[in-house]
This record gives sequence, C-alpha cells and structure tokens, in this order.
Amino acid sequence: MEITKGLSNNNKGLVADLFLNALGEKFTPILGDKIRAKQLLESSIHPNNCFSATTDTELLGILAFQINDTNFLSITFNKIISVYGLINGIIKAIGLSLLVHNSSSDEIYLEAIAVCESARGKRVGTQLIEALFLFAKENNFKSITLQVIDINPNAKKLYERMGFVVVKRTRIWPINLIIKFPFKEVFLMKKEIYTGFHKYLRISS
Ligand SMILES: CC(C)(COP(=O)(O)OP(=O)(O)OC[C@H]1O[C@@H](n2cnc3c(N)ncnc32)[C@H](O)[C@@H]1OP(=O)(O)O)[C@@H](O)C(=O)NCCC(=O)NCCS
Repeated sequence: MEITKGLSNNNKGLVADLFLNALGEKFTPILGDKIRAKQLLESSIHPNNCFSATTDTELLGILAFQINDTNFLSITFNKIISVYGLINGIIKAIGLSLLVHNSSSDEIYLEAIAVCESARGKRVGTQLIEALFLFAKENNFKSITLQVIDINPNAKKLYERMGFVVVKRTRIWPINLIIKFPFKEVFLMKKEIYTGFHKYLRISS
C-alpha cells in the first residue's frame, strides 16, 4: 500500500462512492438519493486536498482536509440548486451548513476520513492521519481539528489514541429531527502540532 498526497482524476467517482458508503450517517440524510448525491460529490472534489491510500489496483482509503479556505469538497450553493432544484436545494444547503467548519490560517481541518470496509482495522486510517501530521509539521501548521458524531465511538477512540482531544460539543437537537440526522451531538476535536521551538518546549516540560 502507498500513501500519497492528492488523488488521480480517475478516482473521483470511487471517492464519492466511498464517502457515501462509509459516511452515510452524515451525507444520506442531506443529499438523499445516491445517484444525485454521487454527482454532486464527484463534481465538488478538489483533488489536491487529500491523502489517498492505494494499491496498484484499488483505492483503500482517503483523508480529506481543508486548509486556507480550500476544501476537498467545495459544495457551492449553486451546485446544490443545480442538482436538487431551488426548494430542496435550500433545505439541503441548510443541512450541509451544520457540518461546516471554517479553519483559521494556522489550522488544518480534517474534513473526512474513510477506509473501504474490507481494509478496516489494518492501520490504513492510522497511516493516513500520520501522513497528515507530517504534512502539518512540514508546513508549520499549529493544529489539526476534526468533527466526529456521537454515534461513532470507534472513530472517536482512534482520534483519542492519536492525540486528539475534545474541545467543543455541539448539540444539534432539534434540527437533527428536521434533517433526519441519526446523531444528536457533534464533538470538535483538536490536536496541537509541535514544530520547531514549540517541539523542544514540550519535550522539556
Ligand atoms: C474510522 C476509520 C477511518 C478507521 O480506519 P481504519 O483503517 O479502520 O483504522 P486503523 O486500522 O488505523 O485503526 C483501527 C482503530 O480504529 C477504530 N475503528 C473505527 N472504526 C473501525 C472499524 N469499522 N473497523 C475497525 N476499526 C475501527 C478501532 O477502534 C481501532 O482502534 P484500535 O486499533 O485501538 O483497536 C474506518 O474505520 C472507516 O472508514 N470508518 C467509517 C467512516 C468513519 O467513521 N469515518 C470517520 C468519521 S469522523
């Protein structure tokens, strides 16, 4: 397996499928039917903002991130309207806005991570996150943030093992009832990245 930054164009459809299968709790209530959801996701991918785990023949996993206001998935209001029409589009745009996080200039926001079902539990996710840590250090970012939903304790455990801590909890009730999200609470987690001088301060303390 190889971890590389970016994504080849041929893989956009595979990523959309992977996200819809692995992150259905977030995407399906908002985007609904899979064909249109796939169309929207595929057309919204910014391929530089990710790390992909691949073999010669397969895409095993993907870690998507936002830096400097550029998202891996840039789902614009116009795109949503063009796929779902005006009224439905507005409702879907409101749902999506609940999951948006705007990162500061010294922060990387981990937008999404998904590993295909047959490859889970084999450290693919860990290696994708480690690749992001290295990228953050090399580019002097101070922190990495992410959001995880209350019904995904396994992913939360993985993030805690890798040094993320919960910094904010957001209850989305009663909006979850309107959007039909199966979760009620979202945790914002953060990992500090120690580079240069900060790194030595941490070791000596
Ligand atoms: C969460 C996910 C990316 C982890 O990737 P992975 O390659 O399976 O993870 P690793 O093998 O590196 O690490 C496994 C750890 O992840 C956790 N984990 C989370 N979901 C898991 C799953 N479905 N199968 C196996 N391990 C899982 C385990 O608790 C395990 O911890 P441990 O090593 O202490 O036992 C992957 O399981 C996945 O794609 N899940 C569905 C999508 C998702 O939940 N994404 C996160 C949204 S915030």
